[in-house]
Amino acid sequence: MLDLFGASSFRSVTLALEIGLFETIADVDRPLTAEDLADRLDAHPDGIAVFCNFLVSEGYLEAVGDRYRLTGMTEKWLLAESETNMGPWLTYWNDLVFPFWEQELETAIREGEPSQSIYEWFDEDPDRWETAQEGFRATASLLVDDVVDSMTVPAGQSRLLDVGGGHGLYAMELCRRHPKLSATVFDYPGAIDAMEDDIPDELAGRLGTRTGDYWTDDLGEGYDMALLFNVVHAHSPAENTALFERVRDALAPGGRIVVLDQWEGSGRTPVSRAGLRFVALTYHTTLGANVYEHDEVSSWLQAAGFTGIQRQSVGPISGMAIVEATKQ
Ligand SMILES: C[S@@+](CC[C@H](N)C(=O)[O-])C[C@H]1O[C@@H](n2cnc3c(N)ncnc32)[C@H](O)[C@@H]1O
Repeated sequence: MLDLFGASSFRSVTLALEIGLFETIADVDRPLTAEDLADRLDAHPDGIAVFCNFLVSEGYLEAVGDRYRLTGMTEKWLLAESETNMGPWLTYWNDLVFPFWEQELETAIREGEPSQSIYEWFDEDPDRWETAQEGFRATASLLVDDVVDSMTVPAGQSRLLDVGGGHGLYAMELCRRHPKLSATVFDYPGAIDAMEDDIPDELAGRLGTRTGDYWTDDLGEGYDMALLFNVVHAHSPAENTALFERVRDALAPGGRIVVLDQWEGSGRTPVSRAGLRFVALTYHTTLGANVYEHDEVSSWLQAAGFTGIQRQSVGPISGMAIVEATKQ
């Protein structure tokens, strides 16, 4: 029964985001009746009333007499103006990941992988890349300060390569904090097209992009640091070793690689373990890949010629940690 409530709640909250229900209440800045909301949202008052009553029971709205206002949870997590707005992440799941599950879950289970990767599917419609990058950016914005605080950045003039850097948020924050750092965000053309307008003017001279496929296209050379954030979960162990070798070749001697991901075996509670299993099923369905153990990433790094491997947990998300190592 709880699963049914969960599914209805997810569908309702993503529809509320789509029709602008929460933003409408926030803009007016006072509780609104179902009639007020129906007027503003071009909806039926009876429909809005049942919808809002359900959202009250799920904790997204509060009833004040016959009016509705936002809860603190909604203000914190689902308003565009909030620094912790996770709305784009829910929209990403609703508009892209679950439709892709519907198409590929059974194939991935029967055949061991989907018939195409979710990235190939994004390429069929540039709007999908926009929605995906907004979702990735939303989760990254929760982690970025912690991650950047935990990293050792080479002193002096240095060059950073963000492999599969997508929205570029991590590279941007690193450049902001380290004025002598310059960065290149490497990703598929669809991903770079979706982020290029977001590069702030203050960083325009130091943050560049490079489009391509990191398996076949040139990554460049002489970098002092390379990020592989939320990338290894998309590949098999053999592919990850090969990718680390490609990144090693793009680094200067003594250059550092930093890998960020969620690692299996690190969930301490039943909820966090369930979270990791959920993520593993998603990676399997969307990419034919998995959540890996920290020991596995260490062995790939060693095989690719990296030493001094160190791991540090980061952020509030279960099992998330950075693993850093140095090119021999
Ligand atoms: C899950 S997102 C992570 C984005 C960002 N690094 C982060 O941590 O938020 C993975 C990124 O890797 C990119 N990617 C996957 N395979 C790639 C490939 N073969 N070549 C270039 N980019 C790739 C995707 O386009 C996507 O932007």
